[in-house]
Amino acid sequence: MIKDMADDEAVQATNDDASECKRYAVQLGYWSDPFINFFVRQTGRKAPEINRGYYARVKGIEVFIDKFLKLSGGKGQIINLGAGFDTLYWRLRDAGNSPLNFVELDFPSVTAKKCYLIKKQKQLIDRLNTEDGEIRFSATDLHAANYHLVGIDLRHISDVANKLSQAEVNFSLPTLFITECVLVYVDTSAASTLLKWLSGKFSNSIFVNYEQVNMRDKFGQVMLSNLRTRGCLLAGVEDCESLETQQRRFTVNGWEGSNAWTMVEVYDSLPESERSRIERIELLDERELLTQLLQHYCISIAWNGQTFKNISIAQG
Ligand SMILES: C[S@@+](CC[C@H](N)C(=O)[O-])C[C@H]1O[C@@H](n2cnc3c(N)ncnc32)[C@H](O)[C@@H]1O
Repeated sequence: MIKDMADDEAVQATNDDASECKRYAVQLGYWSDPFINFFVRQTGRKAPEINRGYYARVKGIEVFIDKFLKLSGGKGQIINLGAGFDTLYWRLRDAGNSPLNFVELDFPSVTAKKCYLIKKQKQLIDRLNTEDGEIRFSATDLHAANYHLVGIDLRHISDVANKLSQAEVNFSLPTLFITECVLVYVDTSAASTLLKWLSGKFSNSIFVNYEQVNMRDKFGQVMLSNLRTRGCLLAGVEDCESLETQQRRFTVNGWEGSNAWTMVEVYDSLPESERSRIERIELLDERELLTQLLQHYCISIAWNGQTFKNISIAQG
């Protein structure tokens, strides 16, 4: 029990890591995010290959967000599972691209910190859509007109169902699920239960998942042992063996179709002008290291219904 709690704390701490890396890359000009500094004040230096990896991660996921917003005509909902300190809601709102509803879920200890930071920061709270003037807070949850932040353990499906209904989720709306470096921390059986439940409930949806892949080779094994020495169990790593296992985890759990790309493919698919812009930000001594890193992460997607069928990473 005490060990389980320590494991969960190590998993929750991965959010600090991700947010700090994003903050640092934004500071260097890899991409623009005017809101990240409200969640992370300061960070130490990160290596150029880490910054480029984060750039590919954020931009790769953005390709699918843009496609979702276009195909759903702005009439869909986004549900970010294990959202950490993600700033997407605010970025979309400033771009005039808010979906009808936006829901973020994470462990209560993480959402409590996020609630506190949102409450404290006028620039964040002012942007929560408040036509009826009401924003409801508890220590761990926040409900505004079209933004909901809720504390939950994703391994407890009946609580997830309950919180999604509190967040006014509509099962029949086009829905985008995002898990960015999350499922690897959830044990295979709980992740299957979650994916199956979501697939059964949301018949018109797309799921976008970013995380490790090719974990069986030597580089993958070193990555795993580094993460484990930081206390992360990586209970879901079984599904990170290959692009095939990443896809299969969706189709065996009721999703109609799936696809997956390594981050090498994702990076190469990004607009050339953007790639050459960011490649000028910092000198990269060891290009091979970046390639190895990108080979060990992927974006996998799955869909239900016709709207999002066969969506791909290709631009346009
Ligand atoms: C590596 S961080 C990524 C955060 C964010 N998605 C991003 O990419 O910036 C992983 C997040 O997943 C959350 N998480 C992992 N397992 C979870 C679970 N069982 N229930 C709720 N949240 C979970 C962690 O608390 C953490 O915030």
